[in-house]
Amino acid sequence: MAFVFKKQIFGFMDLLRFKKMVPKRREKLAEGAAAPLPVSYKVNETAKILHPGYQKAVLREIVLNTQDTKTYVFETERPFYFRAGQYLTVGCKVGQSNVSRPYAISSAPKDALHKKVAVTVKKCGFFSGYLFDSAKAGDEFILGDPSGEFCYEPVKDSRQVLAIAGGSGITPFYSMAQSLADGTSDYSLTVLYGAKTEQDLIFKKELDALVSDKIKVVYVLSDEKKAGYEHGFIGAELIKKYVSGDFTVMMCGPQAMYAFLDKELKSFGLPLRRVKKEANCVGVRDVKDATYKLTVHIGFETYTVNAAAGETLLTSMERAGLNAPSKCRAGGCGFCHSRLISGKYSLAGADKRRLADLKFGYIHPCCTYPDSDMEIVVPKA
Ligand code: FES
Repeated sequence: MAFVFKKQIFGFMDLLRFKKMVPKRREKLAEGAAAPLPVSYKVNETAKILHPGYQKAVLREIVLNTQDTKTYVFETERPFYFRAGQYLTVGCKVGQSNVSRPYAISSAPKDALHKKVAVTVKKCGFFSGYLFDSAKAGDEFILGDPSGEFCYEPVKDSRQVLAIAGGSGITPFYSMAQSLADGTSDYSLTVLYGAKTEQDLIFKKELDALVSDKIKVVYVLSDEKKAGYEHGFIGAELIKKYVSGDFTVMMCGPQAMYAFLDKELKSFGLPLRRVKKEANCVGVRDVKDATYKLTVHIGFETYTVNAAAGETLLTSMERAGLNAPSKCRAGGCGFCHSRLISGKYSLAGADKRRLADLKFGYIHPCCTYPDSDMEIVVPKA
């Protein structure tokens, strides 16, 4: 049926109404409080308490999990609200450099209400190596707000979650298992946890203690055959053995594991939204030695630092002691988003920038390698 518009003529009555509107408005304004508006609002103050951006934390405890993995338990200044599966950045000054790295949170969200949060770190790379060898109880660190989307989303995820962990990739799933066990979350979780040997399994005892009708854990050893463990690599066959029907897959592990599983998961025909991968920190690239000049504008200051061709721009800035912003270090969060003035560069992996960033010349220093001298404008951390 065609829609019929009713024509209305702007008439005398409308003019009258409009005439009365002005004095009415004046009246209402005059009735308003004479006191000036508050400088800050309660809701903003609360938001600032809940999400301060960064906060100081004291390292209270270090637990050796395996020969190359330790858990670091921090006491935060304020309760640290996060969702199981998220990560945080841990930062401090190492020598002359301001360094920070993102780590998946391994403690339960409930513990954070008591100002306690933990990350589990494998010894590899500069900062993780520093934590492993030099950090001690009582040291002060700066923790960034919890970040990341690697969480169970009741609206879009299946109520059956298959977690595939490789090595230290178990950390976010341990947090998720704890949140299920204490009733913070509600879905069913099957964890396929791959490691080389039994000795390399992190949190085995703790995970076994959490097993219930909602939490199932299967250990898969690639280099060892043992009773009670699956042997080999996590692939389609093992997945079919432990889950069926509709499920969401969450993976956390090395890049090679993702590449392998992408192929293995094809036969399940899962929609894209049902497959989640935790991003990996960008590392060094294997290129011929070369060092370029990187000119960095932060606020009103300009710095010129050395940028090695094999390292990301973010690493070069940190090495030079500049306080450059970062969170995921994988091109995903946009926190390091900086404007390129000049220079050639290469990206680590897929380009995760928005089209507008490409159009207006923005880069993510966390996953950008220099191929010439460069000049960039970096936001204040
Ligand atoms: S730190 Fe997240 S995009 Fe660079």
